[in-house]
Amino acid sequence: MESISFPEGFVWGAATAAFQVEGASKEDGRSPSIWDTFCALPGAVAGGDNGDVAVDHYHRVEQDVAMMADLGLGAYRFSTAWPRIRPDGGEPNQAGLDFYSRLVDTLLERGIDPWVTLYHWDLPQALEDAGGWANRDTAHRFADYAATVVEALGDRVSNWTTLNEPWCSAFLGYAGGIHAPGRQEPAAAVAAVHHLLLGHGLATAAIRSAKPEAKVGITLNMYPIIPADPSSEADLDAVRRLDGLQNRIFLDPLFKGEYPADIVADLAPYGFADHIKPEDLAIISAPLDQLGVNYYTEHFVSSEPAAPSEPKPGRRATGSPWVGAEHVSFPVRDDATRTDMEWEVRPRGIYQLLTRLHEEYPRLPIYITENGAAYRDAVSDDGSVNDPERLAYIDSHLRAAHDAITEGVDLRGYFAWSLMDNFEWAEGYAKRFGIVHVDYGTQVRTPKMSAMWYSEVARGNALPA
Ligand code: NOJ
Repeated sequence: MESISFPEGFVWGAATAAFQVEGASKEDGRSPSIWDTFCALPGAVAGGDNGDVAVDHYHRVEQDVAMMADLGLGAYRFSTAWPRIRPDGGEPNQAGLDFYSRLVDTLLERGIDPWVTLYHWDLPQALEDAGGWANRDTAHRFADYAATVVEALGDRVSNWTTLNEPWCSAFLGYAGGIHAPGRQEPAAAVAAVHHLLLGHGLATAAIRSAKPEAKVGITLNMYPIIPADPSSEADLDAVRRLDGLQNRIFLDPLFKGEYPADIVADLAPYGFADHIKPEDLAIISAPLDQLGVNYYTEHFVSSEPAAPSEPKPGRRATGSPWVGAEHVSFPVRDDATRTDMEWEVRPRGIYQLLTRLHEEYPRLPIYITENGAAYRDAVSDDGSVNDPERLAYIDSHLRAAHDAITEGVDLRGYFAWSLMDNFEWAEGYAKRFGIVHVDYGTQVRTPKMSAMWYSEVARGNALPA
């Protein structure tokens, strides 16, 4: 294969999120988040795992940043924890802010650009007790919290992401009950969609007023949706609905200033439109500087219902996140390998997604804010961790992303998910996404073969032949 160069200034980074890596769940004034509560719910998280210690990033920041520098990373995408910075959703907590301030300084000393995500799913439990994202007031609280963070870090941080994957927060959290807060209330989920987007818009305004030169974006998890049978009208309707619920319900209000009419109609039985006030869409569609895309796989969709599945042993029953389209199923195709998450490896999908965004939405600079894969890695006797599948996964996705650049897509950076193995939400610690291996008993970090390779890519701004 030929060596492939990326455009000058292309950002090479790696990402984490507060709850997944920090631990120190009760330190320096941090209050419980919905994920602390959810982890304590029997059967909610595989292995009964929780975020109390995680990979102890809170206490190992210096060492972790030194490791990033050794790997030659240009940027680190991390999230700030709302329950550290405004415990219980209340007044600012200086100790919480100090931690992130130190992290930012340490990164800058090493020449690594800090990319801050304000919400990566750890809502203060006290705000959930008041209704969570189903309550409109949470959007205003989020903007207040965003203002606090930008006032503290805005002198040193240029790139801001409001929300990470609001689809997960709304639909996995409030409809499927698969993520915190574990509710299975479709009407609350569609309310959450709107309030998350409103929170994004209000936070964007707060960031701009505190720091006019900030670069602001949002990160969405998008999937190409492929029909099982392209000649079946029912399958094509399943595609329309899923594309609506997964992609367009976020993209259209953000970039076109309106919700997709077909999806508003589909969601009428759940009272979606009742939450939308006339001024909201102007707030939500305030111009952004960049769009973050998290890409992992495609959705291959059939309108034929799947056989009802039993919960995995020891796990609680969950529901469908697909509000109004609960009947759809995801047949298994046998022409692709799968990761340890059972997700099909589909590098072409990243190309399709990027070119679609380029064609259908305003031509914003795009960053891949997450891409990566879980595999069952083990440390060999000689201390190394060989993960050829992850290396091949990242390599193939970067090649497909590069094809999109060649066709004119303004892709400006790539963040590997994840810098290191961590708490994979409902799957606990068993699924390893890191390019760096973590021994959870000793907290020893070992860069995997994929990390060494990625380091060369980042340093050379090119994929090796
Ligand atoms: C999306 C999320 O943003 C991240 O937190 C998660 O660990 C990865 N995808 C892998 O599932």
